[in-house]
Amino acid sequence: MDDLGSRLAELGDRGLLRSLRTVSGAQGPRVVLDGRTVTLLCSNNYLGLAEHPRVREAAAEAALRLGVGAGASRLVSGSMDIHAELEASLAELKGYERGLLFGSGYLANTGVVAALAGPGQTVLSDELNHASIVDGCRLARTETFVYRHADPEHLAFGLERARAAGRPGALIVTDGVFSMDGDVAPLPDVVALARRHGARVLVDEAHATGAIGPGGRGTVAAAGLEEEVDVVVGTLGKALGSYGAYVCCAEETARYLVNTARTLIFSTAPPPPAVAGALAAIEVLRAEPERVATLARNARTLRAALGHEGLEVASGPTQIVPVVIGEAAATVRACERALGDGVFAQAIRPPTVPEGTSRLRLTAMATHSEEELRSAARVLAAAVGGAGAVAENDVDSADADAEAPRLEAPTSQTEPAASASEDASLAALAALRRAA
Ligand SMILES: Cc1ncc(COP(=O)(O)O)c(C=O)c1O
Repeated sequence: MDDLGSRLAELGDRGLLRSLRTVSGAQGPRVVLDGRTVTLLCSNNYLGLAEHPRVREAAAEAALRLGVGAGASRLVSGSMDIHAELEASLAELKGYERGLLFGSGYLANTGVVAALAGPGQTVLSDELNHASIVDGCRLARTETFVYRHADPEHLAFGLERARAAGRPGALIVTDGVFSMDGDVAPLPDVVALARRHGARVLVDEAHATGAIGPGGRGTVAAAGLEEEVDVVVGTLGKALGSYGAYVCCAEETARYLVNTARTLIFSTAPPPPAVAGALAAIEVLRAEPERVATLARNARTLRAALGHEGLEVASGPTQIVPVVIGEAAATVRACERALGDGVFAQAIRPPTVPEGTSRLRLTAMATHSEEELRSAARVLAAAVGGAGAVAENDVDSADADAEAPRLEAPTSQTEPAASASEDASLAALAALRRAA
């Protein structure tokens, strides 16, 4: 039998070993990580809705009223009223005829890309698209042209080449906001090229929904391109604070996907509590659009604070702020040092990002205070500087992830005090339980 231990050791030698860290309690701007309270700077819970009292209560109420699981796939007996309700709400939010729920963003992208790309056609995909899109292209078992990141000229070249080869471009796929770089796709150019070549456009709004555009409706809405972009994919697991995912599209496309998207057909329907939580999150988003503005302000504050501390970060319009370090092992060391000083910013390494571009991928949340962000920037600048110095002097310590120092837990920091909103949520839950 193949030796998994030596494969793991090889990953360790290359600074690419990964391990799970455990958060205790709810997700928030500060969390208890492996027993110690730290500022969380790498979560996609951008608006703080995962721990919002209304969202928690909606999920708890759905669990008590409808149960925990849907019990079957959508096409068997798993489609419930609450799925239809969320699909309608998402379609309205995004400005499309239909919403269609999937189990996760990963499942949505793999299923939809594979379903929409026909044999003898070409899919055109941005080189920095999320892994789920890359895997969707693989599953499509058709030609894929990977165009240079956010480069319409290279996309145009790919479309021409595909046409000349007799395998015309059928589908152009791009992240709206790129998950590891935080930049925005050139959607007007993509759409113009698609129209010229008769191709469909799919935009993955995983990091855009709730974070960018009017009322947090995403990059497609920000560009006013709802009529032009054929399919929008998004996850419920980031700004909407829940779990699961959706596709928004025309009625006919939705009917086609119900009949062809294997990840919808062969997977259990999303659980009612997650669906109810997402419904409540959309209500909060509609009622409190200022959360989106706060998120943008916090992202600006974080960028400015990092710059003030001497860290170079690209200026960008989104909440994703990459601090690119380069070498994987040095990035892990920077992560560990920051963690030692109370800031959690995960090291992101290949294959998630290209070789030589390992980074701390920082994410602002609307729930961070300005002081938290400024003080985190100070910690990160020191950690990145310190990690560089160690990288030059101490090559053997490169495999920091394998021996990640466990943080000591000062007794006063092990559990954050329950907030007033948490208390209210727990009281509401107790009332629900009595009523059920
Ligand atoms: C751009 C993008 N698309 C899709 C996904 C997958 O979404 P989910 O976490 O719901 O599977 C992610 C999540 O990391 C993502 O960043």
